[in-house]
Amino acid sequence: MSPHGSPHTDRPAERPLSGKVALVTGASRGIGRRIAADLAAQGAAVTLTARSREALTEVAEETRRAGGRAMALPCDVRVAARVKEAVRGCLTEFGRLDILVNNAGVAANKPLVETSEEEWDSILDTNLKGAFLCCREALPVMLRQGEGVIINISSAAGRQGFAGLSAYCASKFGVIGLTESLAEEVAEEGIRVFAVLPAGVDTDMWRGLFPGEEAALKPEHIARRVVELCLPGDPTPTGSRAATGNAAPLRSRAIVGSAWGRSPAAVGSGSAALM
Ligand SMILES: NC(=O)c1ccc[n+]([C@@H]2O[C@H](COP(=O)([O-])OP(=O)(O)OC[C@H]3O[C@@H](n4cnc5c(N)ncnc54)[C@H](OP(=O)(O)O)[C@@H]3O)[C@@H](O)[C@H]2O)c1
Repeated sequence: MSPHGSPHTDRPAERPLSGKVALVTGASRGIGRRIAADLAAQGAAVTLTARSREALTEVAEETRRAGGRAMALPCDVRVAARVKEAVRGCLTEFGRLDILVNNAGVAANKPLVETSEEEWDSILDTNLKGAFLCCREALPVMLRQGEGVIINISSAAGRQGFAGLSAYCASKFGVIGLTESLAEEVAEEGIRVFAVLPAGVDTDMWRGLFPGEEAALKPEHIARRVVELCLPGDPTPTGSRAATGNAAPLRSRAIVGSAWGRSPAAVGSGSAALM
């Protein structure tokens, strides 16, 4: 029996993800923690990554107590060498990699003119470069296997801009571009790539960004959609932007007309002008 498994879950089971191996970034709390738990509950062995070793270890123990297979592997997704080690560690422990969930993320709610270069780099490096690095490391494994699923957690802020979220929106729009391009690139190789675009979700991130505002969704809503996309036979076309929960806006109050309101010109400020 693996030190990260249990006799119960090592038995061949009827659970749909039995035999599959997942790596989830940002699994120490919030949405990623729930995604990891739900993938494990469906039978997948899960490598949990984030920067905080202590929190990850606790999540891994909790997952094992619930009968799942999980390993905690601290990793900063901004650092290529750490990402390489995480994928290698996953292969050493579990022997394969079928599902990559790029969920690690950070955000800040402040006007662009007050955003420092360090803050911009931190958000872009975590949310966008981190997803690139993880995809680049995981893909050769999936290509060898001839199958795999990559799920990139973007945001409702990945298809619409919001005042105060310039760096965050830039990163999440980027995640959609990355997803659609990669999906095209590997469509013939049996690898499916998706972007999930949650509206507001009740997590530390949401509460830090918008204190006192209620989020439309809970982490379990996002995790449910992610698990569906991983199930064998799921019909969602690769490259899709998968909505989660209802079509709730990112925030409950309308953003147009906010302090950073938009111009009423014929071509609205913020429009992407097609040529
Ligand atoms: N909450 C929302 O309303 C909402 C809506 C749409 C999309 N999302 C997206 O959903 C994802 C999860 O967000 P959340 O709300 O669950 O946020 P959260 O509660 O703040 O959790 C973020 C996770 O990312 C990890 N992380 C941050 N920087 C990292 C790094 N450099 N390397 C590795 N891990 C890192 C954190 O762990 P450590 O700090 O220990 O590293 C933590 O596990 C993010 O991509 C976010 O943009 C959230």
